[in-house]
Amino acid sequence: MQIEAVKTAYRRYARIYDMVFGAVLQPGRRAVLDALQLRSGDRVLEVGVGTGISLPLYPRDVRITGIDVSREMLERARGRVARAGLRNVDALLEMDAEEMSFPDASFDKVVAMYVVSVVPNPAKLLDELHRVCKPDGEVFIVNHFQSDNPVVGTLERALGMFSSQIGFDPEVDLRKLVPAASNGDVRRVNFFWKMVRLRNGVKHRQL
Ligand SMILES: C[S@@+](CC[C@H](N)C(=O)[O-])C[C@H]1O[C@@H](n2cnc3c(N)ncnc32)[C@H](O)[C@@H]1O
Repeated sequence: MQIEAVKTAYRRYARIYDMVFGAVLQPGRRAVLDALQLRSGDRVLEVGVGTGISLPLYPRDVRITGIDVSREMLERARGRVARAGLRNVDALLEMDAEEMSFPDASFDKVVAMYVVSVVPNPAKLLDELHRVCKPDGEVFIVNHFQSDNPVVGTLERALGMFSSQIGFDPEVDLRKLVPAASNGDVRRVNFFWKMVRLRNGVKHRQL
């Protein structure tokens, strides 16, 4: 995935995103929100915030910053925040999650929902998620990862040939991204998605 292909794909998706991917991706969003264990005043960063569909799920007493590379997706998110009166959203910024402008250790929790398979370099993304997270903070990821099932694996490889067009790579290998030795807590959300919870400072391999 190249960043320009991502922007083009989500420019096209923006208007229909909530209708197509709203309900179907909601179990993963809810799983992350349930696992976050947020405390009043926590600062949360959500990368790839998209249309802001998850924003109403956060408690009103935490501060949220959202970033995305797609201007059109962010416009939707801003509209949602205004309509719902979400005063706990501090900022929605156009920014690349692989090269964020936030200082180190800016956030208590960092969240990436359905983003790892969309960015050009998932390992670089992970480095950045850890960098902007406080040393005692946590990083949460929900995503589809490459299947061990040979039939599903074949379908993923076929789909992978069109990743630029469809806007995601179905072949991200969870074991390379988060090795077992890293103490990453991996939980299956359903057949398609897994949630990964990482204490900050956890090492991961380069993809
Ligand atoms: C599949 S959507 C997920 C949106 C939202 N998190 C959700 O739960 O529906 C992926 C989002 O990640 C954004 N994205 C892709 N690459 C990015 C990057 N390098 N930095 C920031 N956002 C990115 C896309 O523009 C898109 O809005």
